[in-house]
Amino acid sequence: AIDANFEQNRQQVDTHMGHDVWGPVEEPEKLGIHGTHVAVDFDVCIADGACVEDCPVDVFEWVDTPDHPESELKADPANESQCIDCMLCVDVCPVDAIDVDAG
Ligand code: SF4
Ligand code: F3S
Ligand code: ZN
Repeated sequence: AIDANFEQNRQQVDTHMGHDVWGPVEEPEKLGIHGTHVAVDFDVCIADGACVEDCPVDVFEWVDTPDHPESELKADPANESQCIDCMLCVDVCPVDAIDVDAG
């Protein structure tokens, strides 16, 4: 599962499509956490797709992650600023890869 305290326990090492990336990142095996308000641990995500299908405001977009050990696609929180804090994605992800900081 994603570490809900990632902002304390990890370093922001990069940005991607306008959101933060929290390390460690060692491509292609370790990809870190993408996003901050809507955070997806790419090293936990198995590309189940429930979050992509169920988010009512289409926060997530697929990105290709070739040669990652868990899956070759990840749900990227590309539109995290659109999030309405419904928590549906957190509830439906089978591997608890998503943390939403609803405050
Ligand atoms: Fe989408 Fe709701 Fe998840 Fe926000 S909490 S990313 S609105 S499903
Ligand atoms: Fe990945 Fe969970 Fe979404 S496995 S695709 S973050 S539902
Ligand atoms: Zn990203």
